[in-house]
Amino acid sequence: MAKVWSKRFDNTLNPFIEKFNASIGFDSKLILEDLDCSIAHAKMLGKTKVLSSSETSKIINGLEKIKVEYLRGKFSPSPPSEDIHYCIEEKLISLIGETGKKLHTGRSRNDQVGTDLRLWLRKEIDNLDILLIDLQKSFLILAESNIYTLIPGYTHMQRAQPLSLAHHLLAYLEMFQRDRERFKEVRSRVNTSPLGAAALAGTKIKIDRKFTAKELGFEKIYKNSIDAVSDRDFCIEFVSASALAMSHLSKISEEIILWVTDEFSFAKLTDKCATGSSLMPQKKNPDVPELIRGKTGRVYGHLQSLLTMVKGVPLAYNKDFQEDKEPIFDTVQTISSSIKAMTILINEGIEFNIKNLSDSVENDFSNATDLADYLVGKDVPFRTAYQVVGEIVRFCIERNMLLKDLTIDEFKKFHLEFDEVVIENLEPFNVVKSRISKGGTGFSQVEKEINNWQKKLLI
Ligand code: ARG
Repeated sequence: MAKVWSKRFDNTLNPFIEKFNASIGFDSKLILEDLDCSIAHAKMLGKTKVLSSSETSKIINGLEKIKVEYLRGKFSPSPPSEDIHYCIEEKLISLIGETGKKLHTGRSRNDQVGTDLRLWLRKEIDNLDILLIDLQKSFLILAESNIYTLIPGYTHMQRAQPLSLAHHLLAYLEMFQRDRERFKEVRSRVNTSPLGAAALAGTKIKIDRKFTAKELGFEKIYKNSIDAVSDRDFCIEFVSASALAMSHLSKISEEIILWVTDEFSFAKLTDKCATGSSLMPQKKNPDVPELIRGKTGRVYGHLQSLLTMVKGVPLAYNKDFQEDKEPIFDTVQTISSSIKAMTILINEGIEFNIKNLSDSVENDFSNATDLADYLVGKDVPFRTAYQVVGEIVRFCIERNMLLKDLTIDEFKKFHLEFDEVVIENLEPFNVVKSRISKGGTGFSQVEKEINNWQKKLLI
């Protein structure tokens, strides 16, 4: 097929370079957006009388026909077209003849590709929000039934203080909420129309940028034509928000992987989400969270690619930008599938071992802070109380005992303010119950938060 620029050139492209230059292998994903963009552009040219009304309807009908053919599986964009934009233009010309050659009036592939990609990404961001809500719901449902399930809380991966399992799960709901907020913010910048910036300078053809923006559902238009065709911030912002969301998925994945080890035994995987080993018959592997943890690296990599792609690229459009698509497409695919897999894992793939969880919090020193706080309640300065409890812990460790094994007389040897009540205070259930500060793990606080989430997520 002759290139549109063939009249300007003496020779044809080297076949390897032709392939090297092409993006049709991956940008055909943008076909529906490219068609919508062209339909809006043609309508606008009709409205401004650049095209006659018969030319306009011929072009629009042609584009609609291509859409139907594509949706019915009768047309698939492919080489030798260089990219999806040329592909559609070529197809239109082959369908409707000479009039098709008028479609590209007053625009460039530079503003066209930016428009297509934004339309595609806007739709995907909306899908991601739905997936994230489902994920939040799965965590909330699990939290609802585990308000009174205790789990050791860690800092530095050392036992710190016992927690309500629901409180631990709700921490992830907060992270996913911030992810949703970030995507929403990115969406508003994605939702800005570059169409009509043409190659870089605007055009003398009579166009109406606000009209095409409205047709395509954009909130606003780029104010500067050079910026419009060279801005790829929205790609980087999107992948950056995705990288953070993946880090949250990777964090819970890592926790699940630990929880299901023989060493922790806080939970086990159901057969729906676990896989066997090809060699060791006893094994049940956490492939799902491991894959999510592994895929996080891909998204971080895409962020790095995009940041490097824009670095040092002078204004305005440069072919480097063709490299924006694969990282964006793969990020969307990776994060969507990871969110879905995690939702399934939380819904039906994991069962907590309540007995082991409660045994764990019974048998450690994670109530030591409460012992100190008890003395603080008796007006002992915290630093003094902390040191007294340090001595008690050491005393216990040397004798292979826990705090709950001490008698009240033994407690009194360390500080006279200790009395009977202290024993009760050391019960992990009471320890958790007492953390009633706002945002704390106290059951009353957790119940309130569950309530708030139910309202927010409408369940
Ligand atoms: N395939 C190109 C891309 O993805 C389309 C824009 C090409 N523009 C140009 N001036 N060569 O970026």
